[in-house]
Amino acid sequence: MSQPIDPDISKSMTLPSRFYTENESFREIVSSFGNCWHFAAHRSQLEGASSIPLNHMEAMVGEAMALTISEEVRCLSNVCTHRGMILVTEKCNSSSIKCGYHGRTFGLDGCFKNMPEFGGVKDFPSAQDNLPEFPIMEWKGMIFTGISPSRYNSVFNVMDERIGWMPIDEFRHDESRHRSYEIDANWALYVDNYLEGFHIPFVHGDLHDALDYDSYSTELFEGGVLQIGIAKGDEDTFDLPDSSPDFGKRVAAYYYWLFPGVMLNFYPWGLSVNLVIPISVKRTKIVYHGFVWDESKLGKGAGGNLDKVEEEDQDIVEATQRGVSSSSYDRGRYSTTRETGVHHFHRMLFEDG
Ligand code: FES
Ligand SMILES: [Fe+2]
Repeated sequence: MSQPIDPDISKSMTLPSRFYTENESFREIVSSFGNCWHFAAHRSQLEGASSIPLNHMEAMVGEAMALTISEEVRCLSNVCTHRGMILVTEKCNSSSIKCGYHGRTFGLDGCFKNMPEFGGVKDFPSAQDNLPEFPIMEWKGMIFTGISPSRYNSVFNVMDERIGWMPIDEFRHDESRHRSYEIDANWALYVDNYLEGFHIPFVHGDLHDALDYDSYSTELFEGGVLQIGIAKGDEDTFDLPDSSPDFGKRVAAYYYWLFPGVMLNFYPWGLSVNLVIPISVKRTKIVYHGFVWDESKLGKGAGGNLDKVEEEDQDIVEATQRGVSSSSYDRGRYSTTRETGVHHFHRMLFEDG
């Protein structure tokens, strides 16, 4: 696809509206997600389990996948090699995977183990009866996967340099912080909205009271965007070690977005992972996973009331979907100070993987 976004933000028009509204343009973009890394799970979600389905990956890249945990963590195809039934449908702790349709079993390494009533079948089993495996990447207890991820591998180093001091692998999954929403809007509108703090004073009154708008910063890197919220007044902040590049600043939140749909929001209490999952051109699923670091800091500061902020964002994004569907709107312009993240994202949509 040709690049419709000028590299010079001061000259560029925003994303043409057809990318938010037309099925064909949507498909063109989403079909390239196979070469990206997607969030699969945090280690603390896998405790006591030998396999968990990754339902969101099916929507994200069109592949049913499951994580299996034995001596190592693997990402396997979640499709039975007999007649294609989905294998793992819920978190499970059995030492093998058994298909619920006709009883074929596999080891946690994906190797075929056995199958009833297949005595006379020639050249069986063969390598084709094993479950295909997908690559995984683990960064500080967070597991990422994809079909053939090769794009933007450097994002993990970028995060490591900045926040590698946080004991992210020790954060604890908190089921009560799980949320799942479906909204009537294109996935990219949800990402656009996330990538600017420009709207905070207009849309998020309470959050605006917790953050110093003038100090809010946006940094671009290959494969993602980091936004840093600085606390206003005596709001909770990170206790930064002197090794941190931000030592001396009153950081209230690190908001990382990784292309295409991973949002890692770090607060003094821990991490909120938000996954943006395109369902169709005008429908998107948002899934939240919460991981707690310091319970005593829950409910305070910039990450204090995420449900309220989410509701405010969803209202805006759904209304914007209606707006960009109008025949009188095609493209706008960017603020050169407040919309660098959105511009960067729009450029990335047309970069080769
Ligand atoms: S589809 Fe799995 S055993 Fe038949
Ligand atoms: Fe917002």
